[in-house]
Amino acid sequence: MTTATPDQLIVTIDGPAGSGKSTLARRLAARLGLDFLDTGAMYRAVAAKAIERGIDIAEEPYYVVELARNCPLRFDWQTDPPRLYARGSDVTDRLRDSDVAGLVSDVAAIGAVRSVLVENQRRIGVEHPRLVTEGRDQGSIVFPHAAVKFYLDASPAVRATRRAEQLREMGKPVQLQNIRQNIIERDRKDSSRPDGPLICPDDAIRIDTSDMTLDAVLDLLEQNVRVKVGTRV
Ligand code: DC
Repeated sequence: MTTATPDQLIVTIDGPAGSGKSTLARRLAARLGLDFLDTGAMYRAVAAKAIERGIDIAEEPYYVVELARNCPLRFDWQTDPPRLYARGSDVTDRLRDSDVAGLVSDVAAIGAVRSVLVENQRRIGVEHPRLVTEGRDQGSIVFPHAAVKFYLDASPAVRATRRAEQLREMGKPVQLQNIRQNIIERDRKDSSRPDGPLICPDDAIRIDTSDMTLDAVLDLLEQNVRVKVGTRV
């Protein structure tokens, strides 16, 4: 469904890897009392399952499509952030591993995988109509009718440092140079694919967060939402 239902209040946050989307979307949702959807986690879950099954994504993309179609993804909305289950097993702790990060752009470039996940995301938007959702195509493709759209950006160097900090906090191994390369490569793939490429929608509020603190960006996002939707939050 690409038209808004009357009860829907959707805020989309799109942007490249490391622009701060996940943290900001989650904190914005908490401030406004909305649910939070991390759509990158869904692509990561399919990548993690493909690795588990030993699928060669480049050679056998059709198996990945089949996997996406037959592997129901379910968030546990009682946890914060929501934990993600793929076919009943909790994959949350796999999502940030480097093998998954290295493959996920290739998974996200498969048009038929995107169709499955886009449909899934729209269904979540009906079941959770008051939602902050973040990804690459949320304002452009998935929820073009969203009440408020943001596009966050930052320089590759700043984004790599942020991602490294995130990984350190999770106790994962960190090699800044590799992270930076991975981010640049993912930007290239995400922006150039024919289906649902990373773009800034015309009606999105664009914010360069390179020189801003997280709290300053959060305040700016909240202000904009409150101005746009008034008493609905
Ligand atoms: O936001 P993230 O780093 O968790 O995203 C992981 C990958 O999934 C990244 O390569 C972009 C892709 N992605 C996408 O294509 N569309 C989305 N809506 C979300 C993520």
